[in-house]
Amino acid sequence: MKKQIIQSELIEYNSPDELNAEHQQLIEQAKEAAKKAYAPYSKFKVGAAVLLENGEIIQGNNQENAAYPSGLCAERVAIFYANSKFPNIPITAIAITAVTKSEFIKSPVPPCGSCLQVMLESEKRANQSIKVILYGQEKITYADSIKQFLPVNFNKDML
Ligand code: THU
Repeated sequence: MKKQIIQSELIEYNSPDELNAEHQQLIEQAKEAAKKAYAPYSKFKVGAAVLLENGEIIQGNNQENAAYPSGLCAERVAIFYANSKFPNIPITAIAITAVTKSEFIKSPVPPCGSCLQVMLESEKRANQSIKVILYGQEKITYADSIKQFLPVNFNKDML
């Protein structure tokens, strides 16, 4: 028997002021996107903003559906659109936040497993890590790569 201990590095900030201007702007774009989400069923409005290497910012938000599984998370809306519009430009960062009961979440919410898997593919495809900024009013969580959230993962190297 051999035990493997896996560690991830997540950094916590108290305020966006502690981040660089580019990442502060990305948070603002994610907040703006969250307000425009279509989430009449969960009432949990998620916003994502993706920063590309060429400086473009692509926003996305969750799009729900009466047939629940037909909806899509904010992160995947943003990432798929970014990769469809700019297939050869790496994504360098993503900011994510959510609005619930008319206010931004206090503590950041990590992306779901399916979104992490999609973000990992983008990271691998461009061979460049994606920085993750999870915004909450009272706390911001930062990671330098999707791998910090998905250290053990299935990816193209296994095919
Ligand atoms: N949601 C996201 O947009 N991103 C996530 O990473 C987790 C969940 C959405 C899906 C659904 O519309 C609502 O939040 C509640 O699960």
